[in-house]
Amino acid sequence: MRTQVGIVGAGPAGLMLSHLLHLAGISSIIVENKSRAYCEARVRAGLMEHWVAHMLIETGVGERLQREAMVHDGIYIAFNGEARHIDFHKLIGKQVYIYDQKEVVTDLIARRLADGGQILFEVEDTSLIYDFIGGDPKIRFRHEGREQLIECDFIGGCDGFHGICRPSFPDRALRGYDRVYPFGWLGILSESPPPENELIYCFHERGFALFSMRGPDLSRLYLQCAPDEDIDRWSDQRIWDELEARLGGVRPLVRGSILQKGITPMRSYVTEPMQAGRVFLAGDAAHIVPPTGAKGMNLAMADVRVLARAFEAHYRSGRDDLLANYSATCLSRVWKGQRFSWWMTQMLHRHSDEIDFDTKRQIAEIDYVTSSPAAMTSLAENYAGLPME
Ligand code: DHB
Repeated sequence: MRTQVGIVGAGPAGLMLSHLLHLAGISSIIVENKSRAYCEARVRAGLMEHWVAHMLIETGVGERLQREAMVHDGIYIAFNGEARHIDFHKLIGKQVYIYDQKEVVTDLIARRLADGGQILFEVEDTSLIYDFIGGDPKIRFRHEGREQLIECDFIGGCDGFHGICRPSFPDRALRGYDRVYPFGWLGILSESPPPENELIYCFHERGFALFSMRGPDLSRLYLQCAPDEDIDRWSDQRIWDELEARLGGVRPLVRGSILQKGITPMRSYVTEPMQAGRVFLAGDAAHIVPPTGAKGMNLAMADVRVLARAFEAHYRSGRDDLLANYSATCLSRVWKGQRFSWWMTQMLHRHSDEIDFDTKRQIAEIDYVTSSPAAMTSLAENYAGLPME
């Protein structure tokens, strides 16, 4: 097989890259080790920055998004028994969209296939054949029992944090920066109406909680927990009691049947640079954020937009400066996303069992951030998405 850009991973980054390249007349093939059904069912964060929703709409994959997404003007932050609203729309004229990542993946897969795109699901033993210096890279894998090879000009490494692309880089080519947080999130999907029509981020003595949603009768709720929390120790009753306690009485909480539960680890990670030779990393393959603020998919979308434009410049006019600057262009946004995710995380989580200096400082910070127009504007512009050039 031969294509212009070989893509590893059919998550939001790989699929959107393939879609943007197709619109620019550039061919690509995606290989993915999971099944199509798995990719389309994996519940992930559901919050989309303003510009990402617009990019989906403008590139022809926003039809269902426009019908089904919930558009929010802002968020609530609750503490000390009070919920305060930060109105992004009023402050900066932007809104955010609630639309699960799996819906984005579903829409993009359907569109790529309708456009004649090639996505090979359930491939095994994928590896890169490339010396990271010269020549064309290749992707080797097994598909439907046969050894296969894709020869390409470039590779898009969109295969997530545990993917094969980043570890294929030569040892000294990359430097990783990371921070592991001493807590995780227990997340549930529940058949119940959310307590508010926008998200509520709760700072509470018992720990952080987040009240999000997927529909008028479908809630997505999270609790700060230990990083190695044993999910079997959390009965439905215990989860609801804890959610209710941490909501702190700011809204009534309606309980419902829990459809799904899981633990999300909390970690910040960035690799620099995001490229070597003809292999370009994008999305979680290059960086991950803790979920507070839901920047993961949004940063992935920013990477592939930069990358698609750089490939377009290469193929259209033989210009390689955008490709050469890919890493630097992405990293300036990535680090701002890291900074914001870290900041939201440290501000809203409990770091010790005592009410100590940091607890008091956090409360002062939340009070400030939910009352000063300048501070609220700063939160709003980061949360709703910093400008894309
Ligand atoms: C969701 C997840 C987040 O981490 C967040 O900050 C907001 C929303 C969600 O899954 O809905």
